[in-house]
Amino acid sequence: MPINFESRKRLFLLQAGETSYAMVLSKTGYLCHLYWGKKIEDIHVDFSAGRISCRHSFHIPEQEDPSFSLEKALLEYPSYGNSDFRTPAVQIVNTAGSAIVVPKYQKHRIYKGKPLLDGLPATYVENDEEADTLEITLLDDWSGVEIILLYTAYAHRNVITRSARLTNAGTQTVTLRRAFSASVDMPCRGYRMLQLSGAWGRERQLFQRQLVPGMQSIESRRGASSHQQNPFVALLSPEADEKNGSVYGLSLVYSGNFYAGAEMDSYANGRFFIGLNPFDFSWQLQPGQSFQTPEAVLVYSNAGLGEMSRTFHSLYRERLCRGKYRDRERPVLFNNWEATRFGFDSRKIVELAKDANGLGMELFVLDDGWFGKRNSDTCSLGDWTVNLRKIPEGLDGLAEAIHRTGMKFGLWVEPEMISPDSDLYRLRPDWCIHAEGRTHTLARHQLVLDLSRTDVCEALEQSLTKLISGIPIDYIKWDMNRNITEAGSALLPPERQGEVFHRYILGLYRILDKLTAKFPDVLFESCASGGGRFDPGMLYYMPQTWTSDDTDAVERVRIQYGTSLVYPASAIGAHVSAVPNQQVMRITPLKTRGHVAMTGNFGYELDIGQLSADEREEIRKQVETYKSVRRLVQFGELYRLKSPFEGNSAAWMYVSRDQSEACAFYFRTLGAANIDVEYLKFEGLAENKKYQNVLDGSIRRGDELMHLGVPVLLEGGDFQSCMWHFKTC
Ligand code: DGJ
Repeated sequence: MPINFESRKRLFLLQAGETSYAMVLSKTGYLCHLYWGKKIEDIHVDFSAGRISCRHSFHIPEQEDPSFSLEKALLEYPSYGNSDFRTPAVQIVNTAGSAIVVPKYQKHRIYKGKPLLDGLPATYVENDEEADTLEITLLDDWSGVEIILLYTAYAHRNVITRSARLTNAGTQTVTLRRAFSASVDMPCRGYRMLQLSGAWGRERQLFQRQLVPGMQSIESRRGASSHQQNPFVALLSPEADEKNGSVYGLSLVYSGNFYAGAEMDSYANGRFFIGLNPFDFSWQLQPGQSFQTPEAVLVYSNAGLGEMSRTFHSLYRERLCRGKYRDRERPVLFNNWEATRFGFDSRKIVELAKDANGLGMELFVLDDGWFGKRNSDTCSLGDWTVNLRKIPEGLDGLAEAIHRTGMKFGLWVEPEMISPDSDLYRLRPDWCIHAEGRTHTLARHQLVLDLSRTDVCEALEQSLTKLISGIPIDYIKWDMNRNITEAGSALLPPERQGEVFHRYILGLYRILDKLTAKFPDVLFESCASGGGRFDPGMLYYMPQTWTSDDTDAVERVRIQYGTSLVYPASAIGAHVSAVPNQQVMRITPLKTRGHVAMTGNFGYELDIGQLSADEREEIRKQVETYKSVRRLVQFGELYRLKSPFEGNSAAWMYVSRDQSEACAFYFRTLGAANIDVEYLKFEGLAENKKYQNVLDGSIRRGDELMHLGVPVLLEGGDFQSCMWHFKTC
């Protein structure tokens, strides 16, 4: 059993792959954290020893246990209102108006498998032998609120998942003010916190900071996980880097407002936490009602960030993503957005599809502008009927024409939005998120549909069902281009307005759950002005995400490198676009643009008709090359070799599980004169196997490739790249 309770020691010991996680009950029933790290077979804990000696005048909550102080203890789900003055994981306002909660151990149960979470995406198992689950029930006697902490330990992955289910088992209505998914107290002297932060067009850049006493945190208050922050943080031990040292990763399977970080106390203990953002959050729980928090995924690595990422990748690829495409190679995609924007008709679209198919591409995606009277971003969101002026044969006719070219047909939608200039808005002005009497802030000329309302969700689900079932459609790009402002819902009473943000996400998940179940053959890709909602919550419904609206090769190296900290290459949409690049105006070689995009889920968005014969031929070869490494890239193990955040170049590679094949990519930003030749050392290969580089025929053993490396020979000039593709021989 990966999970055990030893009653004599009052110890919970969870074994997940090569990781252990331990908790212990204090004499009077407080659940304390003991250990998270490299595997320990058995723990002989003397709890009374504690981690901090109690010589000073600390607050003592229970006189029967005078050596125990909440102020200094390492706790597992800390609450507000007692002598633990650090950030609580839970705050619940009761009828007396106070937010004091004292959750103490009641009971626990351990069982095989992993439960689904009510209404929320979560990692899963395919058979019960893959994991054990522990449910620890804590009770706040005074209010009758029961908190069930759920822990799942995967038997063969270094992964523990956590969430909490809070039930009002009392007789009075209470209000949740915060309920984190996970909180872990652990010593963290000298540790750093790593986060993925950015903005539109430069998402998920790496930032690290030294932990100091006090709070270091990230959050989203935008109604989406956001371009600005990703629902992920990692703690790095002092010696940790890409290949070495202890790293603790926390990722949240959620797409809305979140809060994550680490609070260091005066004894260099860190409280490491992740969950729903308590900012402007409240949730009423009537007697008998429950609230389930999103799931937090905890990954420990004792071999640096690289190993942490590989653990996240295989978990998210194999036990978070679902559906027909989970294990399938994804089609090489052509998207017309950067080629045409809104200026197209079906003749142009079919011409592009023929060109794309002639170069080996497999899926044509018709992006924005096909519906209502939409010739710019000023109107029509909500009116999901085809614009017959642009597409006289209708969507089904167009889809058939695309199919006849040999390509699959995909369609862009932005269902969560409503344009004030739309028939839908004229009919249902109260269907947007808004606060009575306040301004309606527009972004990209649009408002957000109020998915906290079930009637709006149902109508949306029906209109999308009608749209998708009316066309032979293979793929949907689900876009979302603005954040929530003036958060409010016309249907919720004043005391429930604090629920809008979370209800919105629950509504969205409900719709996605239904649509993905109704259309199991459709490949869904999520998008939010590029990477504004690149998170595990969306990956549960849609196995790939448009990574960023910035398609410039140089910028993409950094964006994709950062994204790879948590997310697998199969999820990372990456397209070659025209130069000068539309976002940064940079001119980069087609070869480099191809190599950068090949390290993700590959595609193109440019006007093929504008290209020279040589460029078309180069693209044909790129598509062929990508297809030869597609399985490796999308389902192989990633080794990051050089970080673009540390210098003028970057490199990473993918290795098959059986080490029989690998491909590597190197990118240099600026050229320089008269410099030394760099040797790139590969990783993850078998030392004693012989590998042939299929691109130039050279043969080397794994040990030479990894320890001596190979010279990086680039053409002159800026923005150069090269690639290796090894097969054992
Ligand atoms: C934002 C997306 O990120 C783009 O790829 C494109 O689909 C546009 N929206 C269309 O409006």
